[in-house]
Amino acid sequence: MQQGTRSSRALMWSRDAPMRLLVTGGAGYIGSIVARHLLAGGHEVVVLDNLSRGHRQAVPDGAELIIVDLLDREVVRSAVDGGFDAVLHFAALSLVGESGTHPEIYYETNVGGTLNLLEAMRSAQVRNLVFSSTAAVYGEPEEVPIPETSPPLPTNTYGRSKLAVDWMIGDYCRAHDLGAVSLRYFNVAGASGGLGEDHHPETHLIPNILRVALGANRFVEIFGTDYDTPDGTAIRDYIHIDDLADAHVLALGATEPGRHRIFNLGNGTGFSVREVVRAAGEVTGREIHAREAPRRQGDPPKLVASSELIREELGWKPRKPSLEDMVGDAWAFARAHPNGYGD
Ligand code: UFG
Repeated sequence: MQQGTRSSRALMWSRDAPMRLLVTGGAGYIGSIVARHLLAGGHEVVVLDNLSRGHRQAVPDGAELIIVDLLDREVVRSAVDGGFDAVLHFAALSLVGESGTHPEIYYETNVGGTLNLLEAMRSAQVRNLVFSSTAAVYGEPEEVPIPETSPPLPTNTYGRSKLAVDWMIGDYCRAHDLGAVSLRYFNVAGASGGLGEDHHPETHLIPNILRVALGANRFVEIFGTDYDTPDGTAIRDYIHIDDLADAHVLALGATEPGRHRIFNLGNGTGFSVREVVRAAGEVTGREIHAREAPRRQGDPPKLVASSELIREELGWKPRKPSLEDMVGDAWAFARAHPNGYGD
């Protein structure tokens, strides 16, 4: 793309017009579903993914797929130099346990990969970014529901790598006029439009419970029954993937040059592990065998979002806050894809 075309594109930036968008990690669970929402909104979507954890089949129809590793700096630079209005950055490693045993690949992929992306955006004059951050940056906060002003004190390497990226983005906003929004997700759940969650290994609670409902696993382990919570199990704030996708569309319209905005994204309601197991039993009509197990290292007892800020400033409102809806949609995906995407 020529320099002149790029600048005029920046000048013509209009949030109502269809945009040309780059979605990194668009073959993953969250990236693919957000990409599908963007396509449905009339935008042009190019997915950039190395397919190391994502699935080719998850890339929604209508999106172009470029198979690129963010660590491949020169290739990333030429991929980003394609006349994009904005980037939505999901590509990352996100397993808390793995991040502790292999911190080097978490810093390299999450921090180094994002640095390459930011440099490619700077070179191509792409000045709008929505970043997939995480509640893991807060660690074990004293104030719950957690506001954005809560001091970030991550208790694991994954959270630290994402926090480093948030700081890096803030610095790029100040120094290079980037306009960015970081969304700090709590526990994303559910499925949408035939796309859903398929991780290897699967460590998340709802998909693991549904593997029991499917008959693929005999029982689900409940990690920790001695927390200081009403039923002794850990409490999380689950948010439907469609509501999360809505927030990305709003965030895309809220980037401002030189400003880094940070929003928490959850429902503000917590459910314990036992409550999720019970809800899944009701939704699926299957018996879910659960076994009590020791606490998982690094798991905070309670993570619930204050989502006041995104509600007030961006007008976000969850459409599917019920746990039953989330589990029901995840169950429909699990039944349609008992072996995941099968790749
Ligand atoms: N859990 C079980 N059994 C399982 C799986 C999980 O009891 O088989 C428990 C966990 O110990 C935790 C809760 O269920 O208490 C939720 O666990 P998940 O693994 O589903 O999710 P996490 O809360 O650990 O982590 C999720 C994302 C992270 C993100 C974090 C932010 O996976 O990437 O939310 O809150 F950082």
